Amino acid sequence: MHGGIEHRSGVLFVCLGNICRSPMAEGVLREMAQAQGFACLVDSAGTASYHVGSPPDPRAIAVAGRHGIDISEQAARQIERDDFYRFAHIVALDRSNLEGVRARAPRDATARLSMLMDRVEGRAGENVADPYYGEAAAFEAAWEVITIGVEAWLAHLVNEAKGLKA
Ligand code: 4NP
Repeated sequence: MHGGIEHRSGVLFVCLGNICRSPMAEGVLREMAQAQGFACLVDSAGTASYHVGSPPDPRAIAVAGRHGIDISEQAARQIERDDFYRFAHIVALDRSNLEGVRARAPRDATARLSMLMDRVEGRAGENVADPYYGEAAAFEAAWEVITIGVEAWLAHLVNEAKGLKA
């Protein structure tokens, strides 16, 4: 019932509100995967419901735009039960949201839970700081860290896909 071969590389990024960090991660992975011709289901969600239905924060849209990526069409949603079966990976942007994801995980969830920076050598377990209460510079800083994390994830996903094909 769940799963399907086209979803084997699926990644769901999760932060708190799904209006700042995880939309940026979604935008970066979408763009990088497409540039490499790598087919991959990509989405993002929040552990909280405050912003459900909203577009990303204007500051997140702006920083993404400065880097040539349009994330303005995204709409915030909360993580739901099905996500734990649809995605191969659920990737939290910080520790507290990883705990939030874990607390919602059904016992028979098939998704693997981890953090964005876990794929970056020497930076496993590192949080992407919440820029919501910061200045524009906080969004630039988050963008930089997210790009490094997503790059490492893409390399991992490509390797995983090769392994599945072999
Ligand atoms: P995000 O940032 O988790 O990166 O989307 C936040 C967005 C909203 C709130 C906190 C963080 N908030 O408290 O409303």
